[in-house]
Amino acid sequence: MPKLSDPALIVGFDTADDACVYQISEDMAIIQTADFFPPMVDDPYLFGRIAAANALSDVYAMGGVPKLALNLLCVNPCLGDEVVKEILRGGADQAIKAGCIITGGHTIEDNVPKYGLSVTGFVHPGKVRKNVGAKPGDVLILTKPIGSGILLTALKAEFIEPRDCEFMFESMAALNQEAGAAMEGLSVHACTDITGFGLLGHLYEMAAGSEVTISVFADKLPLYPLAEEMARTGLVPAGAYRNFDYIKSFVKIMPDVEQVLIDIASDAQTSGGLCISLPEEEADILLKRLEDAGEKGYIIGKAKGEEDKKIELMNIQKHK
Ligand code: CO
Ligand code: CO
Repeated sequence: MPKLSDPALIVGFDTADDACVYQISEDMAIIQTADFFPPMVDDPYLFGRIAAANALSDVYAMGGVPKLALNLLCVNPCLGDEVVKEILRGGADQAIKAGCIITGGHTIEDNVPKYGLSVTGFVHPGKVRKNVGAKPGDVLILTKPIGSGILLTALKAEFIEPRDCEFMFESMAALNQEAGAAMEGLSVHACTDITGFGLLGHLYEMAAGSEVTISVFADKLPLYPLAEEMARTGLVPAGAYRNFDYIKSFVKIMPDVEQVLIDIASDAQTSGGLCISLPEEEADILLKRLEDAGEKGYIIGKAKGEEDKKIELMNIQKHK
């Protein structure tokens, strides 16, 4: 894309960040982002909730709060009004929880239905959380488990049933609102949400843009129930391999890390958690805040001085 530079644009697209940030006054910047995708679940209400949570997430990843949103909707007329209503109700319910007003939107006909939001959020210009800026000595905290792409593939292949995925569905539909709020006042150096590039892909962007190397603790990764079993069965979507291919020359894998963990760490996530890089001495405060809010936080890695490879995948229990 041709570039138009503007001094008020605090975050553009050059570091593959979650959203752009544009300063409008000394103490106010707006965050702008859009996300939409086809259904990954049969229940239209659940789909609406997941799509909205996913779109709102980029605002939380930037350290902001979502305020206004527009529905982006593609419908196949065969779907019927009831299904469309349920999708929009799901989206509206999550937006209301977020304190974000849906003020309208746009609908077109399309064979494959799609739904999402264009979201505008607010943030103080001094409190913007970028996906770069991680420093050596930081720990990385992830706020949702991974493996959703693998489980959705297994579900489609009927190796598992929807009720096996209930925990994951609720997690995907959950807002990253509390995780965003938990960063308040802490020296967070970098933050992003884990979505289509998979954990390793997003951490690669973080490491490369921060000029650090990130050690990922393969044996400490929080996985959705059954994700490992399904990956072992070979139900790994092609996207996970594409994600890994793209970054593999920047990744060092310790010999004792199993292939399934590489696959899961590369698996594209739908509406994943935030991954937050902050000084080790503040990790406990963040974990405590997440726990108090009824959320989870998992230490999944550590940043160190830049080495030849940007990402190092290791088993920490043996390497300590
Ligand atoms: Co994002
Ligand atoms: Co996004």
